[in-house]
Amino acid sequence: MTNNNNDKFKSKLGIVAATAGSAVGLGNLWGFSYKAGTNGGGNFVLLYLFSVLFIGIPVMLTEFVIGREGKGGPVGSIENIEGSKKSPFVIGGYFGALCTFLILSFYSVIAGWSLSYLVDGLIHGFSQFATIDSAEYFTSISGQLGLQVVCQGIFVLLTVCVVMFGIQNGIEKISKIMMPLLFAIILLLVLYNLTLPGFSESVDFLFMPSAFPEGESFFTIFPAALGQAFFSLSLGMGAIITYARAVDDSENINTITAQVAFCDTLIALLAGLAIFPIIFTAGLDAAAGPGLAFVALPVGFAQMPFGYLFGNLFFLLLVVAALTSSISMLENTLTLILENFKFNRRVATMLLGVVVFFFGLLSQAGFNYSSSILQLVTGATGFLDQLDAFTMYYLIPLGALIFTIFVGYRMKPETIKKQINNDTISKIFIPYVKYIIPILILIIFISGLLSK
Ligand code: PHE
Repeated sequence: MTNNNNDKFKSKLGIVAATAGSAVGLGNLWGFSYKAGTNGGGNFVLLYLFSVLFIGIPVMLTEFVIGREGKGGPVGSIENIEGSKKSPFVIGGYFGALCTFLILSFYSVIAGWSLSYLVDGLIHGFSQFATIDSAEYFTSISGQLGLQVVCQGIFVLLTVCVVMFGIQNGIEKISKIMMPLLFAIILLLVLYNLTLPGFSESVDFLFMPSAFPEGESFFTIFPAALGQAFFSLSLGMGAIITYARAVDDSENINTITAQVAFCDTLIALLAGLAIFPIIFTAGLDAAAGPGLAFVALPVGFAQMPFGYLFGNLFFLLLVVAALTSSISMLENTLTLILENFKFNRRVATMLLGVVVFFFGLLSQAGFNYSSSILQLVTGATGFLDQLDAFTMYYLIPLGALIFTIFVGYRMKPETIKKQINNDTISKIFIPYVKYIIPILILIIFISGLLSK
């Protein structure tokens, strides 16, 4: 950390762009759509919206309170507020730093697929998907170990390059350019989709209450929707705490929280409207699973006019969105290292990048059926899915629970009030975070466990 100013955000726009950049990512564009698809549509989306509004937003505010008061990463902030390294609550921070590390390791693999689709799309276009089997293409391209390791490596490198430059010169600058770009691209896709016959079917599918898919119930879909809401809003890991530490005391964290949650939710819904009309129009399967964006969309791009343009724009969008999220994950884990060791920021970022990259190879291995020794060593088929589920269903809710209990039961009400700086919101927020949120998270968490 070379200069102190670089450790703070310069403007409100920069804070919102970077935090929304963290929130808007593959979770919105890839995860939300395939989960809405496999979970039957409307009910999942409604439970997701409920989770964002009544649990996600207050938890995000909780993290803003901790980070701006504690002025550190997830561990450092709690230590600073407690005035001791021995507080049992720091465990939440360690879970968080671990969680962003684990997520980043597999996130970079998915971002690598996006990059390889983009490169191939730029070279060959998407018309080939009118004749070839896109699922086979997905298996084949994601199974090319050499290509994917290179793409994953490039993505981690891009992430490292941004984070190396610090908050103001790296993260804030890049987010201010990329977020509006991303919004413009997705809007363009949705506008185009308005002309497709499958558009109204998509609206019904996404927003009308639906039957639960076979074998699923309220008690399995709700945890899935809450997990998705937490993941999508970057909650429960301290990523927001880490950005909040760089937010000036004069800024209003209530409006920042509302703006970020609004952008994130809007983009998830727009992503649904960018993806499903193509799927329904082309008669593809909405419940295709994790491959949805990768398997289904190219087929749509092959059929639409200007498919070359829209297809490449879409995959560019995936890479851009993934990057503004991955920098936030890396920054979160990095902060823990910088707080505890006298590392130079650049060196620490590079080293962490290398470790993330190698750990990510375990997730990569699951998709490379050809030559992988790693697969033999780890039995890693499905490692990516397992990491995804482990973080989403266990680490993230646990982290969110610890942060809210910390704020509700451990922090002084005056400190919370000072951070919130609004009497009406404090009056609702403090008891809500104490009595309602932990119970809601626990009930959903346990019902998820019981119905597995
Ligand atoms: N919110 C990001 C997404 O939706 C993922 C993320 C998780 C980003 C944790 C930062 C920290 O893709």
